[in-house]
Amino acid sequence: MNSNVIFSNDVPSRLLQAINDLKPGRVFILADNNTAAIARQLGIPSASLITISDGDDHKNLDSLTHIWSELQAGGATRHSLLVCVGGGMVTDIGGFAADTFKRGIPFINVPTSLLGAVDAAVGGKTGFNFHNLKNEIGAFAPAHTVIISSCFLTSLPHTEFLSGFAEMIKHALLSGEPQLSELLNANLASFDPEHMLQLIRASVTVKQQIVSQDPTETGLRKALNLGHTVGHAFESFALSRGKPVPHGYAVAWGLVTELVLSHMRFGFPTTILHQVADFISHNYGPFLITCDDYDSLLQLMTHDKKSLYGEINCTLLSQCGQPHTDVTLSPDEVSAALDIYRDLLHI
Ligand SMILES: NC(=O)c1ccc[n+]([C@@H]2O[C@H](COP(=O)([O-])OP(=O)(O)OC[C@H]3O[C@@H](n4cnc5c(N)ncnc54)[C@H](O)[C@@H]3O)[C@@H](O)[C@H]2O)c1
Ligand SMILES: [Zn+2]
Repeated sequence: MNSNVIFSNDVPSRLLQAINDLKPGRVFILADNNTAAIARQLGIPSASLITISDGDDHKNLDSLTHIWSELQAGGATRHSLLVCVGGGMVTDIGGFAADTFKRGIPFINVPTSLLGAVDAAVGGKTGFNFHNLKNEIGAFAPAHTVIISSCFLTSLPHTEFLSGFAEMIKHALLSGEPQLSELLNANLASFDPEHMLQLIRASVTVKQQIVSQDPTETGLRKALNLGHTVGHAFESFALSRGKPVPHGYAVAWGLVTELVLSHMRFGFPTTILHQVADFISHNYGPFLITCDDYDSLLQLMTHDKKSLYGEINCTLLSQCGQPHTDVTLSPDEVSAALDIYRDLLHI
């Protein structure tokens, strides 16, 4: 179930080595229209490039059919290899396409976005959106190898960078205070690629340690849902208002609210709550809500797909690194936390 995860900013040579180790027949590369240029620069000899349109709207059955068709037309066999070069959208749908083509061909992930590097490309979840439901169809299918670098981040739009950084804050909260303070003190405007690679490595290690103990999400893996019960509600609410927000931004605001809940339920330290809230307020701005929006948000939280019995279900923390999964919350508690979230983000 485990992938070979390599951290390196010398991607072309590490990728060539990984391909040579696998000794595949034909090699196919999957990219979206933004990452195709990166894929070409990797210089994989005699590989066929399959391109799909970028954006989560295209993580759909049409793109999947296109990938399968291109594999088939290109003469792919069970000994072929798919290299997925892109953000989480490409690695999610590419991993699923590979896992299902001829009952499964190996694939290598080369994440090019920060969110892809710290979250989507590792952990074995693949899939695509179906009938307007996110990740409705999918499989647990780990990449053979994942090559994680920071060298592609220079061309990544800043909002996409921040979106991935929120997941790093989540991982740091699940790890411990030293990792968190390193992130909160990082200079996001300009960073050294090797230092960023170290931060990414620490972040991925948190996810790997959790996933290795619970690969199919029956217990501890739910800790990775920190910030996401409220975050998903913010994300869906924003979408319903016709003003979508990036996933990681919604997670950032969700983290603030869930740290408030963590304090209310488990005495999570207020000093850390304030540090995180200040960082998020400064870098992400506020997600504007009023108390008239609470009913809609609570409805969305009770319909979250992680909620089994129509209750509001969260992962909370008593300390950094001490998660409590499957905490059931009352609507009154969440409303009180949303009041404090609005205070903390100066709304
Ligand atoms: N499998 C998992 O465990 C898991 C975990 C988290 C998220 N996800 C999935 O990941 C996806 C989100 O990932 P994402 O944020 O990377 O989105 P994405 O793949 O849609 O990338 C965001 C945008 O950035 C562009 N891009 C990527 N790398 C670039 C680069 N180096 N330079 C310039 N542009 C670049 C993409 O073309 C796209 O337009 C969602 O589909 C989500 O469901 C999966
Ligand atoms: Zn997330």
